[in-house]
Amino acid sequence: MKNVGFIGWRGMVGSVLMQRMNEERDFDAIRPVFFSTSQHGQAAPVVNGQHGTLQDAGDLAALSALDIIITCQGGDYTNEIYPKLRAAGWQGYWIDAASSLRMKDDAIIILDPVNHAVIKQGLENGIKTFVGGNCTVSLMLMSLGGLFAHNLVDWVSVATYQAASGGGARHMRELLVQMGMLHGGVAAELQNPASAILDIERKVTALTRSGTLPTDNFGVPLAGSLIPWIDKQLDNGQSREEWKGQAETNKILNSQRVIPVDGLCVRVGALRCHSQAFTIKLKQDVGLEDIHQLLAAHNEWVNVVPNDRELSMRELTPAAVTGTLKTPVGRLRKLTMGPEYLSAFTVGDQLLWGAAEPLRRMMRLLVD
Ligand code: HSE
Repeated sequence: MKNVGFIGWRGMVGSVLMQRMNEERDFDAIRPVFFSTSQHGQAAPVVNGQHGTLQDAGDLAALSALDIIITCQGGDYTNEIYPKLRAAGWQGYWIDAASSLRMKDDAIIILDPVNHAVIKQGLENGIKTFVGGNCTVSLMLMSLGGLFAHNLVDWVSVATYQAASGGGARHMRELLVQMGMLHGGVAAELQNPASAILDIERKVTALTRSGTLPTDNFGVPLAGSLIPWIDKQLDNGQSREEWKGQAETNKILNSQRVIPVDGLCVRVGALRCHSQAFTIKLKQDVGLEDIHQLLAAHNEWVNVVPNDRELSMRELTPAAVTGTLKTPVGRLRKLTMGPEYLSAFTVGDQLLWGAAEPLRRMMRLLVD
């Protein structure tokens, strides 16, 4: 059995990873070693009846003894520890949720239902570093994988509706506190059916602009609003999140021709599901029936929601998808621009396929 070290297993992505590994009985296939950056020496979680002790996440000797390291600790940890471990000659597999190593030539972005062949080839070529993709990119490819696999995509334009969890646990709390404060400010009026809605709205808007809502994490209020910028500003006018769309998609697919993917990334008040609206320029006019079929056949998690009002409202929302591995795609129709222009809307849980799930599946590829 392989020795697998876990770092950052208590954070938000790490907790989802632990939950999924328990559900899939992944711990039966490995000898886990739990690390901590601050609490080494304390009791590790009990897995398969084993009571371990938390190891020091900065202890290079302890890390070097591992066959596989899975880290959800974040980019700073990766930047500090990974180069030292490799410089010391460690030959194990590094599986990372952080973005730091994603675009390195000797790293593969993992999303095995989409790029299993690329991962297999990488393993044969001796690649030892595997990194989870950006959540919006991974979720797009899980939902639209059939179009890419059949080489039908000329280019993609996207508008995202990204959940608070993409920013982190504190961002989710901040959003919920904002929501509560806004509601609290007008709760009495809402109880009274005779109160005027525009008076209520004015109070909410005044509170939103008053500077009293907590905004330490998002910078501005998100509740009742949205934020049309995610991540850093680049010199070309893109946000870093927008830049990742094309860069990571093409790296995941190992594309021969760069497929343009660009658009605007927007933060909305959803909790943990990212939604995305696409305009897809197809390379040829393919009938909608065929498109439905090849999308649905691509992997076992995607399902095509017929372009129907009731079904879209019921099945194609964060409320319906959160906490599941489903990556539905719907609102499929040919746009008025012409028969090669397809619209699509996708939803996916950004903590599952967008973060934790590809990591545990990569580990299974290495240990099974
Ligand atoms: N950058 C993403 C977001 C997180 O902010 O939503 C997932 O990669």
